[in-house]
Formats: sequence, C-alpha cells, structure tokens
Amino acid sequence: MPDFVIPVTLKIFATKKEITDYFNRKPVKVIGFVPTMGALHKGHLGLIELAKQQSTQVVCSIFVNPTQFNDPKDLEKYPRPIADDIRRLEEINCDILFNPQVTEMYDDNEKWHFDMGDLENLLEGKFRPGHYQGVTQVVYKLFNIVKPDVAFFGQKDYQQVLVISKMIEKLHLPVKLVMCPIEREPDGLAMSSRNIHLTPDDRKNSLVLSKTLNWVKENFEPTKIAELQQHAIQTISATPGVELEYFEIADGKTLHPATELSESVVALVAARVGKTRLIDNVLL
Ligand code: PAJ
Repeated sequence: MPDFVIPVTLKIFATKKEITDYFNRKPVKVIGFVPTMGALHKGHLGLIELAKQQSTQVVCSIFVNPTQFNDPKDLEKYPRPIADDIRRLEEINCDILFNPQVTEMYDDNEKWHFDMGDLENLLEGKFRPGHYQGVTQVVYKLFNIVKPDVAFFGQKDYQQVLVISKMIEKLHLPVKLVMCPIEREPDGLAMSSRNIHLTPDDRKNSLVLSKTLNWVKENFEPTKIAELQQHAIQTISATPGVELEYFEIADGKTLHPATELSESVVALVAARVGKTRLIDNVLL
C-alpha cells in the first residue's frame, strides 16, 4: 500500500440529472451520503470521514432547505459560505458535492406529509412546529436523487435520527442509517453552524449546556431521573443570557420521559443563548 493519498477531484453537481447520469455511467458499489445545509465544520467533516471508511464513493449535499425553517429570519441569516465549504470538501477528498438551487428541489405549492407519530410534537417538534415535516420532505427527495446505500447523520440532532429512521422503516427505503458521535469544541460546546452567531458572552454562557449534560451523565442513576432533571433545569435557568426551552431525560427510542425501565436513555437540551438557539444531548 502506498503511504500517500491520491487526491480525488471533487465533482460538483447542481441538478438531479447530472448526478443520475453520473451514477448511470459509473455504477458504484456502495454510495455513502452525508446530507448537510453547509457552513461545514468538524462535525460535518467527521460524518464524511466515517462515510469514506464505509463507502466506495461519498456524496455530500449542501442545501439550505427552506421547508424545515419555521422562522423566516433564521432561514435568511443561515450562513452560506459555499467557497469555504468546497475547499473543505476538496481537502478531505470527498468525491461528490450535490449543491442544488431551491427551484431544482421544489415545485410551487408542493404538498408533503409523513406520519411520524409523537416524534412530530415532542421536544424539537413542539418548539419548531413543522420542522420535521420539512426535514423528512427534503431527505426523502435527496434519497431519491442520490440513491445512497448508507446515509450518515449526527447524534447532535438525535431526534432527527429517530425521525429519519422511522421514515426509512415505514416507507421501506433501501438505505442503511448510521448515527455518528457529536464533535465538540475543546471546552465542550457542540459544534454547530449556528455557533458563529454567538457573541463572546454568549459563547461563555453556552457552556452551561454541555457542562450540565455531562454532570447528568456522571451522576446518572435510573432511580434519580426526576431529581437530576430538576437540578439540570434549575442550573440552566439560573444562567444569565440563557433561556431554556427544554431539558428532558428521555427514553432513547420514543423520547417520552425516561423511566427506570427504559433500555436506552438520553438527556436532551435546547436553549436560546443570546439570540442563538442551541441544542445538545448525551447518551446516558
Ligand atoms: P446540518 O445542520 O447541516 O447537519 C448536517 C449533519 O451534520 C446532521 O446529520 C447533523 O446531525 C450533523 N452534525 C451537525 N453538527 C454536528 C456535530 N457537532 N457533531 C456531529 N454531527 C453533527 O441536519 C441538517 O443539516 C438538516 O436537517 C438536513 C439533514 C441536511 C436536512 O436538510
């Protein structure tokens, strides 16, 4: 084996036809897929690295999907540093970037509804109504275009993983889903494209989220769920500049409140830090 890496040139496609024609001309054994909204950071790159290990070719998509934003201001200010993103994808030898325009992905007045049960209204679903309808709508479209064998999603968006997994199961989609661990800054803050909006004060205050999750993990006992949750809520609520939306110790499969009998348990948090909404979680 040579001890050097032969660089691959990143192919950039903007239309469904280009990507379909490419794979028709050049069938690939295992297509690995990493859907993103861009502003790529180490969290996204970790997914791509894992995808490279498990696939013959890796497709990353960058598409800021309008249907999953319930706040038009959030959509407008979502970062779109496409030149930097392309450079990052080239540096890590990603094979293909799919970067469509909104008109390539959506017709006017398109309708979509996927019945995901309770997951639609719990936690993120409750605070971002319609968000997971938009996520499933775009991921279903992307799966149809890219036709991946394996798709890689981050644990950072734990509820999103459950929702996509439910869609794969209910619609019998021929895709294997892999959940990748959360990449963090050295001080613990979960990496996110939204972190660039944090002021220096927000940045300091934001640490209460990962610190509290860690504290819950260290002290976790199935008999102490209510007590731990209460303490976590108090700690975060007492932090200036941080407005807690939810802190829930939940069953890892249903996201209903965890009980002593839950087989897997996850603690999830969402809060506004200054003007920026952050989410994080830890498996217990
Ligand atoms: P986006 O927020 O860009 O995230 C793309 C993928 O990167 C998701 O699977 C997310 O969980 C993962 N990710 C983000 N931050 C991470 C971190 N710190 N560590 C590990 N993984 C991380 O999630 C979306 O886009 C969209 O909803 C999408 C699935 C692309 C549909 O539009």
